[in-house]
Amino acid sequence: MKMFDVYPVWDINIVKGEGSYVWDDKGTKYLDMYGGHAVISIGHTNPHYVDMVTKQLNKIGFYSNSVIIEQQKELSEKLGKLSGKEDYQLFMCNSGAEANENAIKLASFHNGKKKVIAMKGSFHGRTSMAAAATDNPNIAAPVNKTDNVIFVPLNDEAALEKAFAENEISSVIIEGIQGVGGIRVASKEFLRKIRELCDKYDAVYIADSVQCGCGRTGTYYSHDWAGVSADIYTMAKGLANGFPIGAIAISPKFMPKYGMLGTTFGGNHLACAGAIAVADEIMEHNLIENARVMGDYLMGELRKMPQIKEVRGRGLMIGVEMPYDTADLRKKLLFDEKVFVGSSGNKNVFRLLPALNITKEHADQFLTSLRKVLTA
Ligand SMILES: Cc1ncc(COP(=O)(O)O)c(C=O)c1O
Repeated sequence: MKMFDVYPVWDINIVKGEGSYVWDDKGTKYLDMYGGHAVISIGHTNPHYVDMVTKQLNKIGFYSNSVIIEQQKELSEKLGKLSGKEDYQLFMCNSGAEANENAIKLASFHNGKKKVIAMKGSFHGRTSMAAAATDNPNIAAPVNKTDNVIFVPLNDEAALEKAFAENEISSVIIEGIQGVGGIRVASKEFLRKIRELCDKYDAVYIADSVQCGCGRTGTYYSHDWAGVSADIYTMAKGLANGFPIGAIAISPKFMPKYGMLGTTFGGNHLACAGAIAVADEIMEHNLIENARVMGDYLMGELRKMPQIKEVRGRGLMIGVEMPYDTADLRKKLLFDEKVFVGSSGNKNVFRLLPALNITKEHADQFLTSLRKVLTA
């Protein structure tokens, strides 16, 4: 059997990682400013993480949600503290798409309505309603198409009000900063308007924090910079530093009922151990603050480079827009300078999504490499 060939891959075989560096099978060292796609939040092979996951695996790796799993309680307490949402409730699953599926479903259970407002340029995942709420016809198969999703332009308050006035809205799903969409920031005013309209029309505000959450942008949930809370936050990528996991944080106004949501693997001992280790590291080393400081530094330096058209983002979720397709630039960064960065749905934009504990030395190494490539 061979692999189902759905990923265009670089011809690089990564075999080892440490902090913000990875090595290929030939011993070449690369700076990871991509974080394996916003997943590596506390650095590769972080010692506390390796220790927690290893110890847990040696005790028990998995048992089903039919028994008490103490680690779930510890994780929900730590995430409540980190996010300032101690009264929210945690439900765990296995991926970002699954987190969004559960959020949209829970909203519909809650208010009995069907229609979902999503944003133009959005990405919410590749399954069922997550694919339907994603603004990309290439990932929605005919079976994913539905009349239940209404797309409005990001930050267009009038279009949002119109969609609410003309439809029975169950939920609004929005990324705090669109990732795949090319690092487009949801404005404070727009997020506040979503809160206001959801309250007015008994709809649910779903904050897709799969990429922009877990402290990456300088607040635990990037949406919270608007000063209003969402009803449900969805998480995945950075939550357990690469161990597959998804989760939703649910406002206390939602009443759980047995069987309402469920999963075989979600919330297992190993996933919890990985996520607890990440939460510990974030707390102990003030990584949310570091993301803010390092992000400001990187963006400040990038904005001084005359070749760059625009720099967008917050914290360590940064989009660099060039006046041309960045494919060649990314290739040069990778093969000449040995630096990983990410692409985006907008060919002219490349993304920086490094670990939250990068240092000024990492940032300077990247900036030197980029200057070199831009002036070559
Ligand atoms: C904002 C956002 N939501 C959801 C997803 C889907 O997550 P997963 O690939 O874990 O299903 C992604 C993945 O890139 C994402 O960026």
